Amino acid sequence: MSRLFEPAYIGKMELKNRFIHSATHEVMSTDDGHITEDLIRRYKNLAKGEIGLIIPGHLCVHPLGQGHHGQTSIYTDDMIPGLKRLVETVHENGGKIAFQLNHGGRQTPKQLIGEAPVAPTGRGRDPVSMNKPRQMDEALIEETIEAFAAAAVRAVEAGADAVQIHAAHGYLNSEFLSPFFNKRKDQWGGSNENRFRFIREIITRIKSRLPDDKPLLVKMNTFDYTPMKGMTPELAGLYAKWMVELGVEAVEVSSGSYYTFHTIRGDIPVAELTAAMPAWRRPLAKIVFGLLKKGNTFKDAYNLEAARTVKPQMDKTPLILVGGMRKLSQMEEVVANGDADFISMSRPFIREPFLVKKFREGKTGESSCISCNKCFAAMFNDMPVRCYKNGIPGL
Ligand SMILES: Cc1cc2nc3c(=O)[nH]c(=O)nc-3n(C[C@H](O)[C@H](O)[C@H](O)COP(=O)(O)O)c2cc1C
Repeated sequence: MSRLFEPAYIGKMELKNRFIHSATHEVMSTDDGHITEDLIRRYKNLAKGEIGLIIPGHLCVHPLGQGHHGQTSIYTDDMIPGLKRLVETVHENGGKIAFQLNHGGRQTPKQLIGEAPVAPTGRGRDPVSMNKPRQMDEALIEETIEAFAAAAVRAVEAGADAVQIHAAHGYLNSEFLSPFFNKRKDQWGGSNENRFRFIREIITRIKSRLPDDKPLLVKMNTFDYTPMKGMTPELAGLYAKWMVELGVEAVEVSSGSYYTFHTIRGDIPVAELTAAMPAWRRPLAKIVFGLLKKGNTFKDAYNLEAARTVKPQMDKTPLILVGGMRKLSQMEEVVANGDADFISMSRPFIREPFLVKKFREGKTGESSCISCNKCFAAMFNDMPVRCYKNGIPGL
């Protein structure tokens, strides 16, 4: 039997296999961040599908960091009962669950928070939101670090098996880490050590409050795919080494930001994405998406090369590989070669929640996701995330 289906550990957390549901924003919570029956149903299904560890969509840790409509929040105690129900649903159906903590940073839509989004550095506009962010001052940096730590405590109170810090895809942590997004010259920027300081503080504070048996994971970029150099696999390797020294128990290796769609390689559904824009921005958005489409071709295991640079820096701490994992044979090879310890997927599980079970029963050897990315376009249109391979109704 393949190693993929054998029990494995992240820290002291035992998982029944090496498959992970990578965090996937669902657009299924209320606009004030509370969970709904739709969300419960989604995760009940996924847990029944025999996935070793389920990481639901990013949870918002601070009101200034709400990345999307319908995003679940974790910044006040009144969110705990709902999250607890979610945890219990997954547990009752045989799964384990980790909560991903996030702050949208500069990618937070202005219309959701009613003011300019905040970021390490106040300059520039990314091509999707077109927002000019406001630079965070010392007081807000401290408040945000504390918000991550408080959110981790709430995750544990809700019964989560683990916590993951989102430090990928151009959101706040990812911005602090990146030489492209972080142009500060104070203690929070200007050198690798300083750029790492924000997440170092978050990790240290969370570790001091998490029980020993609840591992801390980080999802991190290896490339930001920005016009000028940002993250590189070498830099990600250095950061991963520091994270492991601080006690992080697994690192998920990803890539991309709102500058391109490389986080989700494959087609770019231009018409559906453009529909999400206000009318005045549609003509320009159409051109931008059209250009991005050319460079976004799908490639199997598209973060694998970068992971090979990061992995040796992590000693024995597990590396989780995400991005274009579609074929069981390749997943087996990657784990057998020691390039990764866990296989993480998002879009394949949107299409087939029972994919792992089907793999185990030998019913298929490959995901039937075609990376059309209409699930992602639905998210941008504030519609619940599901497989829209045959089209998004109304668009
Ligand atoms: C609809 C959608 C929502 C996503 N939401 C999140 C999220 O909340 N947090 C996160 O870290 N990544 C998010 N991602 C990225 C995925 O977790 C994953 O890194 C990426 O899709 C590549 O993996 P895949 O090829 O298996 O889809 C999202 C992707 C999609 C398609």
